[in-house]
Amino acid sequence: MRQSFLTVIVLAILGFSCASAIKETDEEQFISNLLSKMTLEEKIGQLHQITSQWEMTGPAPATGSAQYYLEHLKTGKVGSMLNVTGAAATLKAQKLVVENSRLGIPLIFGYDVIHGYQTMFPVPLGEAASWNPELLKLSASIAAKESAAAGLHWTFAPMMDVGRDPRWGRVMEGAGEDPYLATVLSVARVEGFQGDDLNNDLTIAACAKHFAGYAFVEAGRDYNITTINDKTLHNVVLPPFKAAAEAGALTFMNAFNTIQGLPATANTYIQRDLLKDKWDFDGFIVSDWNSIGEMVAHGAAEDLKRAAELAINAGSDMDMEGNAYIAHLKQLVEDGKVDEKLIDDAVKRVLRAKYRLGLFEDPYRYSDSTREKSIINAPENHEAARKVARESMVLLKNEGSLLPIKSDIKSIAVIGPLADDKDTPLGNWRAKAIKGSAVSLLEGVKAAVGDQIDISYAKGCDLTTSAGTFFTELEFINNDKSGFAKAIATAKKADLVLLAIGENCHQSGEGRSQTDISLKGVQMELFNEIIKVNPNVAVILMNGRPMIINEIAEKAPAILETWFGGSQTGHAIADVVFGKYNPSGKLPMTFPRSVGQIPIYYNNMNTGRPGPNEDVFWSHYTDEKNSPLYPFGYGLSYTTFSYGDLKVDKVSEQEVSVEVTVTNTGSLAGEEVAQLYIRDKVATLVRPLKELKGFQKVMLETGASQKISFTLTEKDLGYYNNQGKWVVEAGEFDIMVGGSSETTLKETISLSFEKGI
Ligand code: NOJ
Repeated sequence: MRQSFLTVIVLAILGFSCASAIKETDEEQFISNLLSKMTLEEKIGQLHQITSQWEMTGPAPATGSAQYYLEHLKTGKVGSMLNVTGAAATLKAQKLVVENSRLGIPLIFGYDVIHGYQTMFPVPLGEAASWNPELLKLSASIAAKESAAAGLHWTFAPMMDVGRDPRWGRVMEGAGEDPYLATVLSVARVEGFQGDDLNNDLTIAACAKHFAGYAFVEAGRDYNITTINDKTLHNVVLPPFKAAAEAGALTFMNAFNTIQGLPATANTYIQRDLLKDKWDFDGFIVSDWNSIGEMVAHGAAEDLKRAAELAINAGSDMDMEGNAYIAHLKQLVEDGKVDEKLIDDAVKRVLRAKYRLGLFEDPYRYSDSTREKSIINAPENHEAARKVARESMVLLKNEGSLLPIKSDIKSIAVIGPLADDKDTPLGNWRAKAIKGSAVSLLEGVKAAVGDQIDISYAKGCDLTTSAGTFFTELEFINNDKSGFAKAIATAKKADLVLLAIGENCHQSGEGRSQTDISLKGVQMELFNEIIKVNPNVAVILMNGRPMIINEIAEKAPAILETWFGGSQTGHAIADVVFGKYNPSGKLPMTFPRSVGQIPIYYNNMNTGRPGPNEDVFWSHYTDEKNSPLYPFGYGLSYTTFSYGDLKVDKVSEQEVSVEVTVTNTGSLAGEEVAQLYIRDKVATLVRPLKELKGFQKVMLETGASQKISFTLTEKDLGYYNNQGKWVVEAGEFDIMVGGSSETTLKETISLSFEKGI
């Protein structure tokens, strides 16, 4: 057994005689004993989280020299650090704390491991398009393994904000617009990060964020206020979080936004009443980066001291980069503004997390440089990244079966600003990915064809004024067309063009809200020039959010949405375009026709004037259709599927069985995501026109049929009322099954069960 210095100290304090006693000791008893030895300053220290100064994922801290932080670490005034990475660095920081502070309570190291640590997987919105929870679990488990090997204990993921506004650059980090899909996939991610045993030193703690409502920032402008009604809060925003708590997510992160005027950080109702009391969550809540301090700017607190008081009383346990708790909590307790019992509760939560991660057994167990080298970037991690990436891709259009590329194609032109880009596929939240380490599309295509097909390449244009520019403002957009001539000539000579266009890697992400989500710069001009000289264009989109691509959808025969696909992007795209993998992705978020339609999402309510009518007095636009360009749940395959024999039967008045037969009617084997939607036709609070309540991904050989069964229970048939109470109302329900949210295959059933009314 590894026996650490810390173990010795803690054992000495607690009066145990051997390290194994710690393992055997009841968790709560251990924590309470330790807490009883702590001074108020030491307790507050556990609630203080600081960033390393050499990497920052938020605005630079206003105060604090390196010396200041060093002193805080040595004297037990810091409980956690973020942005310290690598076995050596974490070991160094941990030693500083463990060997110098009075109680030697280890730090917990957190980091934004959003879609991989160094082996990058597709951005979360892309992974969500796979509709395959097992795959997300796999990618999270590999991200956890690499992070744990780099000394980390905790990721600030998954983001489970249900997002309906693609102007908000952070939709890239979530699972899309639907609460059911987001719930299933977020839970899979939590399970992937945490594994079956948090004490296993190849798993890390997950963090359900941002609690709550952050994706509803008005007009898609990051950090803006939100206006969320109670019905939306309970039925759309909160369900994935509740499921994460039930799945054992060890931590939660609150949010920058206000909800109904109250900052999430000061929100007692969601943090204490719901999460900690009703949902029984026994982990801790970390603030978002200075979200405590930002309450002053919001106008919710007159100064940092008051902000600290509001936050701790509302249940925010750990202060990330706000310096509010460390500066003011002691005084607030002495002034009688904060009950020390609340601080004790917060500290216990933090200690509990450290205990479960095994840090009291050995604070250095994650920081092993030899292990780090063998795990990070291991070949099997990259194999998995390729598998996940190709399954995340969504075939949006494939007229005349341009894809998969036919055997008589002799020459391919790989064109576009992203065609040989080895960096963009890594996305924005790229943790420790090595710059330029992705397999580019051009590399992937070349590797796939060998000498058999002639491959030519032309960039055509750039997206930004210097390659890889940290995309922040429009002024960086590159409008230079001097590369067009070569691109046009290259396209002209080839049998087929793969045109890679989309977004700069930093165009989607935190702080990257946009009012215009069409393709920037001269990309559309390039597209139009290329298609003029060669109609056989397959557009390869690389982006982090739904985009406005009407013209491309109209003119290009084939479009493949590849998102930011991670380290193995080029190989994964090649697998799809050459037919080694038959695409199976389905959109987790609606693609609008215009920004003016936003927010546009499939599970909207009917209005009193749904139309269409002859006159103008119905709910519509006079200059745009109501329908999206591509709906939620949509995605093509190289084969075709039909749905039939829908059977909907009552098992009881509160349980319904649904059966449907899916048939592969095309000439290739392929996977299909069968989606089950319901509509509660009449209810006290009007219900959505469609709500996803189940899905199954099935593999079917050509000509094969499979019967798929679903069961709907009262958990699927009800909804939360405005008081957050679950109600089920009797009446008729439409049950719909198909390959996208626009399915029309339907049966109606009448149920008499009622609950909560
Ligand atoms: C701010 C972001 O909102 C949050 O998601 C992230 O985890 C923290 N910064 C830490 O980097």
